[in-house]
Amino acid sequence: MTKTALITGASKGLGRALAAELVRDGWTVIVNARSAEALAEAAAGLGPGVVTVPGDVTDPAHRDDLVRAVTEAGGIDLLVNNAGTLGTTPLPRLADQPLDDLEAAFRTNVTAPLALIQAFLPGLRERGGAILNISSDAAVKPYETWGGYGSTKAALEQLSHVLAAEEPGLAVWWVEPGDMRTDMLRASGEDADAAPPPEHAAAALRTLIEERRPSGRHRVADLANPTISEGSAQ
Ligand SMILES: NC(=O)c1ccc[n+]([C@@H]2O[C@H](COP(=O)([O-])OP(=O)(O)OC[C@H]3O[C@@H](n4cnc5c(N)ncnc54)[C@H](OP(=O)(O)O)[C@@H]3O)[C@@H](O)[C@H]2O)c1
Repeated sequence: MTKTALITGASKGLGRALAAELVRDGWTVIVNARSAEALAEAAAGLGPGVVTVPGDVTDPAHRDDLVRAVTEAGGIDLLVNNAGTLGTTPLPRLADQPLDDLEAAFRTNVTAPLALIQAFLPGLRERGGAILNISSDAAVKPYETWGGYGSTKAALEQLSHVLAAEEPGLAVWWVEPGDMRTDMLRASGEDADAAPPPEHAAAALRTLIEERRPSGRHRVADLANPTISEGSAQ
């Protein structure tokens, strides 16, 4: 039976690269992003097997559209909460963090992923499916100016950790992808051109999914270089 995944934020960057991996493997992949035009363009480049549902993950009506798309596809095996926001840019120190921006970032990076998890849990339980939440090293490291964004990812990680304990029948992964050459890294002010392309992380995530690694926190750096990372102190 064809497997079905929902990947949020798949018009570019990591989401699009992971969609390409899964489509190549024969999955049906449902994708979203706020820009309908960019999403349609990305999907056209991915070939058949892609279902586009443009919209904002923070919008409950859009999430209903995603539920309808999954029902039409016959169910879901994998939910990937990839869509994310940096919040305020340029990234501010915590002393200067606008609180309304922070609340909006929590809505995109934490509340919306949980809402999608809640919507799809019954279907995922039926199929013994998997949930992949895309986190960041900023969730666990004290990088100056990354405190607002990092705190949203820390919340996403803890939510994932508890979910893994509550849902032992599912695989629940929360993954640090490492720096990737994407618009998000560019917007943060980091040297995005020095980072590997998102296809590198997507290939590592494919391994995680195909091998159905145990629930838990994973790093693309370890998945991509298992022999190097084994026994490392990180
Ligand atoms: N790039 C890095 O170095 C890096 C490092 C660590 C973690 N991450 C994480 O990796 C994930 C992917 O990041 P990326 O670098 O690939 O970002 P990206 O290239 O900026 O792509 C983000 C994607 O998400 C969509 N999106 C953003 N907000 C959305 C919303 N509210 N509803 C629906 N779609 C939305 C964007 O399309 P629209 O704008 O049209 O909605 C786009 O398709 C994020 O969770 C990010 O926090 C990235």
